[in-house]
Amino acid sequence: MRQVYLDYAATTPPDPRVTACVAESIPALFGNPSSIHSFGRSARGAVEKARRDVANLLGARPEEIFFTSGGSESDNWAIKGMAFALRAAGRPCGIVTTAIEHPAVLQTCAWLVQQGFSVQYLPVDAEGVVSLENLAAAVDETTGIVSVMFANNEVGTIEPIAEIAAFCQVRGIFFHTDAVQAAGHLPIDVQALGIDALSLSGHKFYAIKGIGALYLRSGFSLDALVHGGAQERGMRAGTENVPAIVGLGCAAALAATELKEEARRLRALRERIAAGVLALGESWLNGPNDSVHCLPGHLNFGFRGIRQDVLLMRLDLADFAVSAGSACSAGALTPSHVLLALGQDERKAGTALRVTLGRFTTAVEVDAFLTALREIVTDLRRIRK
Ligand SMILES: Cc1ncc(COP(=O)(O)O)c(C=O)c1O
Repeated sequence: MRQVYLDYAATTPPDPRVTACVAESIPALFGNPSSIHSFGRSARGAVEKARRDVANLLGARPEEIFFTSGGSESDNWAIKGMAFALRAAGRPCGIVTTAIEHPAVLQTCAWLVQQGFSVQYLPVDAEGVVSLENLAAAVDETTGIVSVMFANNEVGTIEPIAEIAAFCQVRGIFFHTDAVQAAGHLPIDVQALGIDALSLSGHKFYAIKGIGALYLRSGFSLDALVHGGAQERGMRAGTENVPAIVGLGCAAALAATELKEEARRLRALRERIAAGVLALGESWLNGPNDSVHCLPGHLNFGFRGIRQDVLLMRLDLADFAVSAGSACSAGALTPSHVLLALGQDERKAGTALRVTLGRFTTAVEVDAFLTALREIVTDLRRIRK
């Protein structure tokens, strides 16, 4: 068997149908979308079609979608843009977020603290769930923004977004969600859920890298992100990356039609791996115990006494690409802030392996992975004795 890719949460391979859209658009839609002639109008038409497709995936209106370079940019823009807009208007601008956000949110908040904003971090329970009680305790009259991720990128926990959004709506608090891991994988209706702003990233659902979007509910405005031309309604200047936008639209349209069936298929594969891991003994799942509250193809687990870097490298040698699910800085694995927030100690957090499945994962690959995992874990346990 060839190399098996089981790291879809890090990035997804582009869908060949997306790659074809992107490749065709490079020569065919090279015009500048701001040009008035037919070349420009063709490119503009493709950009606006993609905007409709992304809007449709989220239950939003096309004019509520702004293209960005990806999840990090969308997160930065939503939170910084709203924080500065609220402060300039003399309105409450304190931020409440969670301890398990992606660095794109955590580092944005850390920078905002340096700019004089207040930030509070909500704790989570042992499965990674944010509680409304903790949210209610943290929010006060100084709070202007709540940002809670739709689903966690390390352990896959899906947060109670509708409840959090409703809580914010009645108090007039701006609610942003980082849906980078959820968009294209879970059904999302921003209207029904009551979300004010949402970040998504193309390379997490089979588009190419360097393209994403920010949904911003009509009626809200942020400070412009890049000043210059009038692109993205004057909010993000610069000639549009037409091929990447076309690819994002294509990926959104595919997800909108295939998402439900695909989620069902992945959940079944996920359960197969979960059962296989638990059957090996001295093992556990990190994050939600049931697949309903977890991203469909997402698993995070550990084996007592087996370090994540050792297991990861042994699996890599056996041609299975998985992740430790924690930041790798200067070649050294640091304990995951997410697992620490779930209440684990550094030793337990240091055993976590993240396995994430996706559109091209087959049952044959899953079975081969389980066989390799069993062999490697058995071998490591023998060596340890
Ligand atoms: C939850 C979450 N937010 C934000 C990001 C950043 O997205 P991007 O790589 O598109 O900047 C990621 C990427 O791993 C993520 O998982």
